[in-house]
Amino acid sequence: MADISRIESREDALALLSVGLKHEWAVSLEYLIHAYSMPKGKYLYDDPVVSARLDMRGQTIQIGIDEMYHALQMGTVIRQLGGEPTFEIDEVVRHPRILDNLERDRKTEDLVTGLYQKPKYKDRLFPEIENMFWNISYDEVRHSRQFAAMIDTLKNSPDAEARCFEPDPEAEKREDVGLLHGITRAENELMHRYLYYVLLFHEHQDLGARLFKNSVDHMRHWDKNSGILIKLGSLIRIENAERRPDGSERSLKSMPEVYPGRDRLSALETLLPAEKKLVDDYERLLKLMPEGEIKEQLKIHLFQNREHLFTQEALLQNVRKIRGLI
Ligand SMILES: [Fe+2]
Ligand SMILES: [Fe+2]
Ligand SMILES: [Fe+2]
Repeated sequence: MADISRIESREDALALLSVGLKHEWAVSLEYLIHAYSMPKGKYLYDDPVVSARLDMRGQTIQIGIDEMYHALQMGTVIRQLGGEPTFEIDEVVRHPRILDNLERDRKTEDLVTGLYQKPKYKDRLFPEIENMFWNISYDEVRHSRQFAAMIDTLKNSPDAEARCFEPDPEAEKREDVGLLHGITRAENELMHRYLYYVLLFHEHQDLGARLFKNSVDHMRHWDKNSGILIKLGSLIRIENAERRPDGSERSLKSMPEVYPGRDRLSALETLLPAEKKLVDDYERLLKLMPEGEIKEQLKIHLFQNREHLFTQEALLQNVRKIRGLI
């Protein structure tokens, strides 16, 4: 992680923000992947912040969602400074042993706390940005304490050597599982793509809020689908990951770096076919699924995506009605 100690100009502030953003994209994804590589409700720990016994998987998901909000905050401030938020991303890693993932997560938290707290700002430059970094850094302090408590509990339990789920090779060959992997990847991509447009049009209150709502829906679908993959005997994948001899999976390209559309019209035009394809894929998948809880959950995602399709068609028509609103 880069080391930035002085903020003396707009360029320095943008440099710190873009290092932070690369980190936040990575952990928002990595923590969810670590969470969805372990069982639900099996590993409990005493959380030192909320003073309650919590599920490690559930809390790791919550922390991942905090990171997504950090990314949104940093991307918005980059735009306010006239910069370009990017989707470049730090390395995402999954170790075969649950404890190793939690240890990596805690180390990352400590590193990023240092990154955010270290810079000195010349002549009271950017007081709000400095304040934001202090505030975010205390989320990271909390995350570090929470991961440390998980590590302590797991290390001193009979599950210290517990491994992440391994996908069942038979399940991996099934058509429904293959389709669900494709859908889950698309949900993740759409979540980021909507966030990109939120950043591009952040000053347009109405459009920003609507696009953000859709992004959050896609985040929830990605999250739920990751849990469903486990129930089907599979496991959420890290895109473009390479497997090392130690069994770890590593990727420097775990999400797309570029999204189409630079203005309102072209952004909205590209969303329609993407939503349409997602709806078609859910419809195909549902035909393969037996009645039951999983099918009901997938139907909720389908219905929300049909709603998105309706809304996106309306947004596109409405933007075309106003001359000069590009
Ligand atoms: Fe963060
Ligand atoms: Fe964090
Ligand atoms: Fe959608």
